[in-house]
Amino acid sequence: MATTKARIATSTDFETLDEEFDPASYNFETLALHAGTPPDPTTGAMLTPIYQTTTYRQKCVGKDKGFTYSRSANPTVSALERRLAALEGAEFATCYATGMAATTVLCLALLRGGDRVLISQAVYGGTVRLFRQVLAQFGVEAEFVDSSEEEALTEALKKPTRFVFIETPANPTLKLTDIALAAKLSKSADSLFVVDNTLLTPALQRPFDTGRGCCSSLNDRVY
Ligand SMILES: Cc1ncc(COP(=O)(O)O)c(C=O)c1O
Repeated sequence: MATTKARIATSTDFETLDEEFDPASYNFETLALHAGTPPDPTTGAMLTPIYQTTTYRQKCVGKDKGFTYSRSANPTVSALERRLAALEGAEFATCYATGMAATTVLCLALLRGGDRVLISQAVYGGTVRLFRQVLAQFGVEAEFVDSSEEEALTEALKKPTRFVFIETPANPTLKLTDIALAAKLSKSADSLFVVDNTLLTPALQRPFDTGRGCCSSLNDRVY
């Protein structure tokens, strides 16, 4: 009896299958169900398995299948990230265990001592505490501004600004900021642009459609 050696699936299989799925051709509902998660290459399972592993076997040092340690990358989390990126209309997404973890990592990645940032006056309390009590100790200057007011934002952007961080609608006041306007003003001031999109999520509001910035949504912290 002829035997064929079973081919072991690799993470590259995910990427190959992914390329066949063009997010631009599908509406939000279809993306929410299918984007970024082709059937599992090992078994054909339609739902992405939960990979409960910390480390991954490597062929030799430096030769892996795209995964080495789950804190850096895990196939289940990668599938979630691909799907959320498709829903947000973003190039890529990185997921974190909590929203404040995402905001903190964003700040650690982008800010240096001496940087100045503009934050919506109405923002989640954890964000205020992060800037006032933690980042201030590292020499980051945070100015809280009424981002719903074009004049206030324009005036504040006259000084060098590393990024403008808005939250809209804000928690808990539901105060609104015009995302497109804030994106435009920050761009002309050569400043990066961040939106905390927690309350509406990409189902109702897609900051990336302005063509700018980083964005974070509740339960899908996408940067
Ligand atoms: C607007 C907003 N941003 C950030 C957070 C922080 O999220 P987490 O509690 O997951 O750290 C929250 C939490 O409610 C929030 O409402």
